[in-house]
Amino acid sequence: MVRQCAPNADICLAVKANAYGHGYELLTALAYDFGIRWFGVATVQEGINLRKLLPGKNINIILYGIPQAFEYPAILDHQLEIFIASEQQRQLAMTAASGSGKILHTHLKIDTGMGRIGCQPDEALALAGNLASSPGIALRGVCTHLPLSDSENTDYTSNQITRFADLVAAMRGQGINPGIVHCANSAGLSRFPESHFDMVRPGIMAYGYNPGVLHGPGSQVRPVMALQSTISFVKSIPQGTPVSYGHRWISMRDTRLATIPVGYADGLLRLASGALQFAVGQAPNTRLCPQVGTICMDQCLVDLGPDARETAGTAVTIFGHGNAATTAMTIAQAASTIPYEITCGIAERVPRILQ
Ligand SMILES: Cc1ncc(COP(=O)(O)O)c(C=O)c1O
Repeated sequence: MVRQCAPNADICLAVKANAYGHGYELLTALAYDFGIRWFGVATVQEGINLRKLLPGKNINIILYGIPQAFEYPAILDHQLEIFIASEQQRQLAMTAASGSGKILHTHLKIDTGMGRIGCQPDEALALAGNLASSPGIALRGVCTHLPLSDSENTDYTSNQITRFADLVAAMRGQGINPGIVHCANSAGLSRFPESHFDMVRPGIMAYGYNPGVLHGPGSQVRPVMALQSTISFVKSIPQGTPVSYGHRWISMRDTRLATIPVGYADGLLRLASGALQFAVGQAPNTRLCPQVGTICMDQCLVDLGPDARETAGTAVTIFGHGNAATTAMTIAQAASTIPYEITCGIAERVPRILQ
């Protein structure tokens, strides 16, 4: 879908935060097989892990944050590419690179409206010139980031893209080769074709979530992640039985109550207690049952209904494939957050399996 939206741009896939919680080993190998050669990470350690995962492969890894001074030797050793956002940082990078015998690949990050890392637009030309002429440093790219590409109002983002494009043109006008020009996150690449430049940097869209108020091809994605478990215990309870911490749910009828060994320590948000439906059974023979009572640290409860025949060991899909009612987006909405936080929050102890 990303390729369909941005057919002429390279793709730098964000695999930071354990590939948005999906398991970077699985996802990166899969992405490599799909022809992805650029990856975005948030920490130097994530970059090192990736390098070790695909040894000898011709991949490019960009660190999406600003490194600390002590991290430069590891960055050079593992050929990670970094954002440069200030003259002070350029000097630090140049010192680190000099004498290492290696070239540090850098991407000038311009803050055109995110307000996070990035130099001010009026500093960009001088900094680009200095980077291009710094010994030990290669100006590999110029980039910016879009904070409002998923919002209804498109004016702000359009203006940002124009300002960015003007800066890149001014660099070229001064004989500076900006290298790879990149700007678009998922919502940007889906909605603003003029943001594609040489490379797009999708994250959430590649993991199957519609990044914001999208229509058109970018909205057709399907979630990659499903969270599955099995019933660990079932019992009958009479009408009026209070259930789980705080006794926030009381059965209105005699029913069968199932325990699922998944809780907020696995990433199933306690804030979503009582607002979700799980698919019980093996697909395609599943039925939706409500999660009831407070979600505990390691367990939660499901009302199977009075006539239920399911026993311990029955499959349960908490969200994703096989559960048409619940996705990470549904859980996010129940907890007033975004799907990014749900998938990123799936705990390390939950095994990742490729199906
Ligand atoms: C610099 C940068 N580019 C791209 C992305 C991908 O964003 P999205 O997941 O919204 O596509 C991120 C995500 O945080 C980012 O920090």
